Amino acid sequence: MPALSDIRACVFDAYGTLFDVQAAVAPHRDRLGDRAAAFSALWRRKHVSYTWLRSLMQRHADFWQVTQDALDYALDTFDLDDDGLRKDLLDAYRHLDAYPDAAPTLRTLRAHGLTTAILSNGAPGMLADAVDHSGLGDLLDAVLSVESVGVFKPDPRVYQLAVDRLGVPRERIAFQTANAWDAAGAAAFGLRVVWINRFDQLPERLPGTPDVEVASLAALPKVLGLSST
Ligand code: LAC
Repeated sequence: MPALSDIRACVFDAYGTLFDVQAAVAPHRDRLGDRAAAFSALWRRKHVSYTWLRSLMQRHADFWQVTQDALDYALDTFDLDDDGLRKDLLDAYRHLDAYPDAAPTLRTLRAHGLTTAILSNGAPGMLADAVDHSGLGDLLDAVLSVESVGVFKPDPRVYQLAVDRLGVPRERIAFQTANAWDAAGAAAFGLRVVWINRFDQLPERLPGTPDVEVASLAALPKVLGLSST
């Protein structure tokens, strides 16, 4: 028996799941010296916490604004007054590569007749740039941005967007994310969740337990009981 059965649609988180966010800082590592890893971690941490805080404050701004606010906080923290670096990091974030396991997995899902989609905090323009740059466009049926509901994950209205737009009941959607907190949010909502634990995170102590934990997207066809093509 596969771990998940009767799935009709596979929905993916974008940043860190399909698109390699760490690669955004990698080309500029030399300019950050031995602070690169700490800088990158702070940027990412502020990025997600600003999405949660804005949702709680009911003061939504799109993810591109939040990306810049978090970057500016990190630049300030590390005393980096460097407009060139800021511009290059933001450009890199707009043109992310897909992880190598993304395209082959999407291709296998589509070959088995499954619907594929992104469900992301990303603003529509950011997602369009990442999809174009990564070449995943032909392998996706839909790219859904939280901008349609004006609040960030893990608000249940975001996960409901996938149900509404794809016309598939929640228990027949498999949601893939590398973020433990997003996995918890989607599972609490009632999607079937495959936690792609790329970063070897610990499970969150939150409501909502993912159905399955794997290390990479390459494991997804087997989780769904599909033969590789
Ligand atoms: C996204 C972030 C949470 O794509 O990774 O929604």
